[in-house]
Amino acid sequence: MPKAIKPTDPTSVSSTAIEQLGFAKTLVKWQRAHGRHDLPWQKNLHPYPVWLSEVMLQQTQVSTVRAYFSKFMARFPTVQDLAQAHEDEVMSLWSGLGYYSRGRNLHACAKRVVQDFNGVFPSELNDLVSLPGIGPSTGAAIASICYAKKEAIMDGNVSRVLSRYLGYARDLSQGAHQRELHAFAKALLPERVKDMPVYTQGIMDLGAMVCTPKRVLCEQCPVQGTCVAFAQNKVFELPFKSKKIKRTQKSIYWLIAMNDRAQVLGARRGLDGIWAGMHAFPEFESELALRNALPAGVEVRPLSVMKHELTHQSLSIHGFAWLFKEQGTSARVQKKVPKPWQSALEGRGFEWMDMAHWARVGRPKPVADFLNQLDGLV
Ligand code: ADE
Repeated sequence: MPKAIKPTDPTSVSSTAIEQLGFAKTLVKWQRAHGRHDLPWQKNLHPYPVWLSEVMLQQTQVSTVRAYFSKFMARFPTVQDLAQAHEDEVMSLWSGLGYYSRGRNLHACAKRVVQDFNGVFPSELNDLVSLPGIGPSTGAAIASICYAKKEAIMDGNVSRVLSRYLGYARDLSQGAHQRELHAFAKALLPERVKDMPVYTQGIMDLGAMVCTPKRVLCEQCPVQGTCVAFAQNKVFELPFKSKKIKRTQKSIYWLIAMNDRAQVLGARRGLDGIWAGMHAFPEFESELALRNALPAGVEVRPLSVMKHELTHQSLSIHGFAWLFKEQGTSARVQKKVPKPWQSALEGRGFEWMDMAHWARVGRPKPVADFLNQLDGLV
């Protein structure tokens, strides 16, 4: 538990006090000299690449996003190209990036921008947040970076920077306190709107490069002189969140059935859960359930257990390979589910998919990893 520290009195952080702190001016100057300028989405501040990068960066690090961003821009250079794409292709390109509802929302958002906004991303925050997958922070990033609007972003990095800088010690598990911090964030924005794009990038850069969660580089911080947490030696106590994310442990069991023609049984998952709409293998709640679903005498080979860490869940995925021999079945039947499976899997749309087919659809990272392991089995 962090030591209880007295919350900053919000009334003491008046806008004149904030102006005197010179936070925005200092940050803008620092960003120009020391911030990041070579990120692929910074080539021009067109809303399409900025939006694409912001959605990808919502839960993913810059180092991972770079390659995905380039792939998307190469395949879909404009929002119209993305809107016209087939969803499977979008999800196939998104495969491995995780949090797949972002990919589906990305596609839905592109379609809405084309249909309702003539292919031009709106500049007002209210319009932006009406679009799928654009929340208040992503909306503020687009509005401020692309249209120099005075909107304040508030992601994890920014709430860490500001709660430390202002000595804001109230519990950020509560929505009311998040809103209060957001009001301070708005008060801290630069006076000149033309500074908004650099300011927004600057506060993200400060959070990513200097005011980091653990290895904090206060000696390199441009606003160290007016930082409350630094002055009071409370950098490591802030931000304060009473509710920590709890991760539950779960095991799932996948049957990875491959036939003589190197096709692997798969189906599109339903619309719920972390892998909604992605393609995956037959799934069971226990190894026993998996084995019970197989015809008697069938050998399955356990593959390595895959760990998959999600925000709220730690998943162990147990894969079992079944090298399926299709003696004498006709080509027409072979395209369908193997006979013994017809009752167990009825209605779930499983089909034999060759590797080219898998490559054309959205597949979660553990599915791709198991498909790679199969290479070694045949
Ligand atoms: N995280 C979220 N948005 C970002 C951006 N534009 N640059 C770097 N990191 C980010």
